[in-house]
Amino acid sequence: MIQSLISIKSVRHAYKTASGPLPVLDGLDIDVPEGGFVAVVGPSGCGKSTLTRLLAGLMKPDEGEVWLHGERVTGPKSTVGMAFQNPVLLEWRTILQNVMLPLEIVSTKMSRREQEERARHLLALVGLEGFEGKRPSELSGGMRQRASLCRAIVHKPEVLILDEPFGALDAFTREDLWQTMHRVKSEEPFTGVLITHDLRESIFLADQVVVLSGRPARTQYVMDVHLGAERDIEDLYTPDSAEALRVLRHQIRVAQGRAEDTEQEAAE
Ligand SMILES: Nc1ncnc2c1ncn2[C@@H]1O[C@H](COP(=O)(O)OP(=O)(O)OP(=O)(O)O)[C@@H](O)[C@H]1O
Ligand SMILES: [Mg+2]
Repeated sequence: MIQSLISIKSVRHAYKTASGPLPVLDGLDIDVPEGGFVAVVGPSGCGKSTLTRLLAGLMKPDEGEVWLHGERVTGPKSTVGMAFQNPVLLEWRTILQNVMLPLEIVSTKMSRREQEERARHLLALVGLEGFEGKRPSELSGGMRQRASLCRAIVHKPEVLILDEPFGALDAFTREDLWQTMHRVKSEEPFTGVLITHDLRESIFLADQVVVLSGRPARTQYVMDVHLGAERDIEDLYTPDSAEALRVLRHQIRVAQGRAEDTEQEAAE
């Protein structure tokens, strides 16, 4: 049996709230092989960000297990990198200093000079050469998101967790960043989980898409993506991609409890 690098087994979790427990995850199973990239989609509020907190070891599930690289997750690990919808960059630091921040927290074998070279290399890789000395407020939203991606991978994490990192960007900038992600992944292989509500993004970036049901979320549907390693935006307009998107859209409707709408639409 091939061991998964990320393994979420029968995870259940409920938040304790003033009005009683709020079940959020209920029977979640996700497996990501080494080097794999899984996109997780599902209705708003179904528990996707909760899943990222469990993966990052910021929270423990009530039931079930979360494993990374054969070790059970019991707390935050330095082998995990994260990026979120709103990049939290520190205004009193330059972009380069922001990208280097994890290296001050996580122990690394790199010398100070190697650290800086690495941060500069990553910034160049995502198209931010020349912006190293700028402050976050001097950058556009897309540029800040690129910088936050560099910061998430600067310490060479084995696992990258992305929670709607491109959600706040316009469509063109987002597509640009998708291409950047492919470039980064081919140069710096990682095993990843991407939370997104953009179905095109899910099939363009991932090799498997997991659809979560409505809250409390369980794994409702799993689709393998058959686009090759080299991907172009044009690949999203092929009949195969259109069909994959149709199936995923239907699954989201099912998750939202609105499946009849799609069936009715199809009949019309
Ligand atoms: N710390 C908390 N305490 C209590 N309830 C919480 C907490 N965090 C999240 N929730 C609730 O748990 C549910 C799932 O939240 P979560 O943020 O995981 O959803 P999500 O799928 O990421 O949503 P979105 O798509 O809008 O980002 C929501 O109903 C939310 O209100
Ligand atoms: Mg969320």
